[in-house]
Amino acid sequence: MVDLTNFDDQMKKRVTEVKSIIENYLPQEEGFQRTLLEAMNYSMLVGGKKLRPLLMQQTYVMFGGTSAIVQPFMAAIEMIHTHSLIHDDLPAMDNDEYRRGKKTTHIVYGEAMAILAGDALLNHAYETAARAFEMDPQNPNIGRAFAILTSKTGIDGMIGGQSVDVEYVDRPLTEEQLSFIYRMKTSALIEASMMVGAVLAGAGEEEVETVRQIAEKVGLAFQIQDDILDVIGDREVLGKATKSDEKNNKTTYVTVKGLEQAKKDVARYSEEAVQLLQKLPCENEFLHELILQLIHRSA
Ligand code: IPE
Ligand code: IPE
Ligand code: MG
Ligand code: MG
Ligand code: MG
Repeated sequence: MVDLTNFDDQMKKRVTEVKSIIENYLPQEEGFQRTLLEAMNYSMLVGGKKLRPLLMQQTYVMFGGTSAIVQPFMAAIEMIHTHSLIHDDLPAMDNDEYRRGKKTTHIVYGEAMAILAGDALLNHAYETAARAFEMDPQNPNIGRAFAILTSKTGIDGMIGGQSVDVEYVDRPLTEEQLSFIYRMKTSALIEASMMVGAVLAGAGEEEVETVRQIAEKVGLAFQIQDDILDVIGDREVLGKATKSDEKNNKTTYVTVKGLEQAKKDVARYSEEAVQLLQKLPCENEFLHELILQLIHRSA
């Protein structure tokens, strides 16, 4: 097992590296559309854990990947995620004013510009991922990875999940519907992250399906912990408002199962994810430890 002091150091080093990779793909702030570009870069650079590109990179490395083709995909997944946050915070959705320790995009740039910055980041994500095709034109894994990235974002992924999430505000949800929402709105982008890493490194279909199952569980644990932190978290540490779910009258895992059961289930899903990870023919101790560390995250 990775020793923990070492883990924190490695984590810092790797997140710094991920940030510098992402920065290479951000647009220059110039031209008549400059305000849009500033709003995009503001949202991308203001903070955030960079968990999804990190998971992608670590899965890629675990399956023996060594090429730079993963880099545009790492930037792309963070752009898609940031797009989802800008739109999630809009007055028409969760109506939140703080994100990543700063004012949300619509508070700083206005609602119209925030809608466009979200749209532009989603589109720029695909333009960015498509650059991998030029880097290695004969590589069939790039097309497979592109298809996963786009479908996990769309109607059968994050956006589909967000639509049910907003539709059921003020309405009771069954456990089945709640599970659907979490698998779609949160697990889908984590699945995309890890599956793209595996596919680009040449993993076989069965391995990619195991990776999907791992990521689904990581995503469920992640969203349940997000719900827990919305109730008992520290706004300063989180960088976003707490009690947002209560304000919006949301049914969450915590309102359905209670805080104590929710905490147990975060640990259970994460441990199940790690058990599946150990069944793969390759290993990555850092990734293993990262999944376990997320159980106790406070941000
Ligand atoms: C927040 O995601 C949205 C959820 C899916 C719960 P993160 O907690 O990864 O947000 P950042 O990227 O660190 O800001
Ligand atoms: C959002 O879930 C998931 C997304 C796809 C953005 P939340 O609405 O709970 O995320 P936070 O708490 O605002 O980050
Ligand atoms: Mg939301
Ligand atoms: Mg929200
Ligand atoms: Mg939340």
